[in-house]
Amino acid sequence: SRPHAGGPTSPEKVLAPVLSAFWDAPESWTLETYLRHEGYQGARKALAMAPDDVIAYVKDSGLRGRGGAGFPTGMKWQFIPQGDGKPHYLVVNADESEPGTCKDIPLLFANPHALIEGIVIACHAIRSNRAFIYLRGEVVPVLRRLHEAVREAYAAGYLGKDVLGSGLDLDVTVHAGAGAYICGEETALLDSLEGRRGQPRLRPPFPAVAGLYACPTVVNNVESIASVPAILNKGKDWFRTMGSEKSPGFTLYSLSGHVANPGQYEGPLGITLRQLLDISGGMRPGHRLKFWTPGGSSTPMFTEEHLDVPLDYEGVGAAGSMLGTKALQCFDETTCVVRAVTRWTEFYAHESCGKCTPCREGTYWLVQLLRDIEAGKGRLEDLDKLGDIADNINGKSFCALGDGAASPIFSSLQYFRAEYEEHVTGKGCPFDPAKSTLWA
Ligand code: NAI
Ligand code: SF4
Repeated sequence: SRPHAGGPTSPEKVLAPVLSAFWDAPESWTLETYLRHEGYQGARKALAMAPDDVIAYVKDSGLRGRGGAGFPTGMKWQFIPQGDGKPHYLVVNADESEPGTCKDIPLLFANPHALIEGIVIACHAIRSNRAFIYLRGEVVPVLRRLHEAVREAYAAGYLGKDVLGSGLDLDVTVHAGAGAYICGEETALLDSLEGRRGQPRLRPPFPAVAGLYACPTVVNNVESIASVPAILNKGKDWFRTMGSEKSPGFTLYSLSGHVANPGQYEGPLGITLRQLLDISGGMRPGHRLKFWTPGGSSTPMFTEEHLDVPLDYEGVGAAGSMLGTKALQCFDETTCVVRAVTRWTEFYAHESCGKCTPCREGTYWLVQLLRDIEAGKGRLEDLDKLGDIADNINGKSFCALGDGAASPIFSSLQYFRAEYEEHVTGKGCPFDPAKSTLWA
């Protein structure tokens, strides 16, 4: 069922604030505020359950990973071998850096205890005594707030020895990364956490089998873990009243770009960009949508004709390749597609870790070609070459960064080939950069 897709667009019908329910409350980030909003009730319920029952409960809720790939969270927890005599680890991926993605950082800033409570539940479930939060190091205010929340949780008995009298001993370490996009890839993150240069490892083995220090490790996104307390507290059936059967629940959508009111909008999976634009005030006055991304630049670029595609793993996920991080970047008619794709591709070339040839060399070539086309020095055959290079990166690279770099090339050529051609035949960019606020 898709309760909201294509339906009325009043905020009450579209929005479902759970994680963001009290972001506007004074000092929303403190333990005191969190406790006033049913904080740590989910953890109390989970700690009274057997670990395997917690895993089964989260699995039945249908929660899918919110980092981009949508892998079922409960199933990932279930992969952790039991009785193996090794330590188990939980690693929270807070290295948010996909272009346009800005949900985990505001969540941590406004409501860090939702993550800490989720960590307590997850560690109980997978029988872990040690969790790490790998945070993007540049966001120093969030780092400070997270440290303070962890300190508060220790002082109140939600972390440390014998959590809430349950017998669970749990330590949490907050680790600041050094600002490399590739360290958001889960195995590169683990290498970085171990003190090595962050580069992806070969999978399998997946982290669930051999992760941090070669021990079974669950790597989950911030939003995934922070969503767990409400599921335990309000129930898996309540969670399933939102979204669709295969993509249930609430989630954070990040609206950015040429929109009237950018920001976080929390609603069920399966709503549409048209609904979000309707309730948020639409595009900036006097302008219309030209293209958008459903989940950051690693997901395919879409156009107006996709405004009613449900934002879930069956809708946009099936139409493109992935729903991704629900980073809805919206661009209006003043934006040059070639310029946007060039900027994104420069990002991927810069962030490519260099481990594998298709991505390292391919992203470099793409940038050279795109810069030439943008500057009016391209040739028509370069357009096929762009597609050819992207084809040789996609599915042939060592990790998802390569596929992400190929994605905007494919979709921009699919929908805006004429605009590329205009750059070539007109020997330059037909757009006036002064009219766009994004590409200074
Ligand atoms: P993936 O689909 O390969 O894996 C997803 C998760 O499932 C991983 O944790 C993996 O360990 C686990 N998994 C998959 N198959 C498994 C198996 N057979 N056994 C055990 N565990 C298994 O996706 P990947 O490469 O980890 O992530 C790609 C996604 O990351 C993309 O969807 C992209 O949108 C997103 N992304 C998010 C960013 C952000 O800033 N949040 C940045 C860049 C990409
Ligand atoms: Fe590194 Fe790119 Fe290869 Fe990933 S695809 S391992 S980022 S070179």
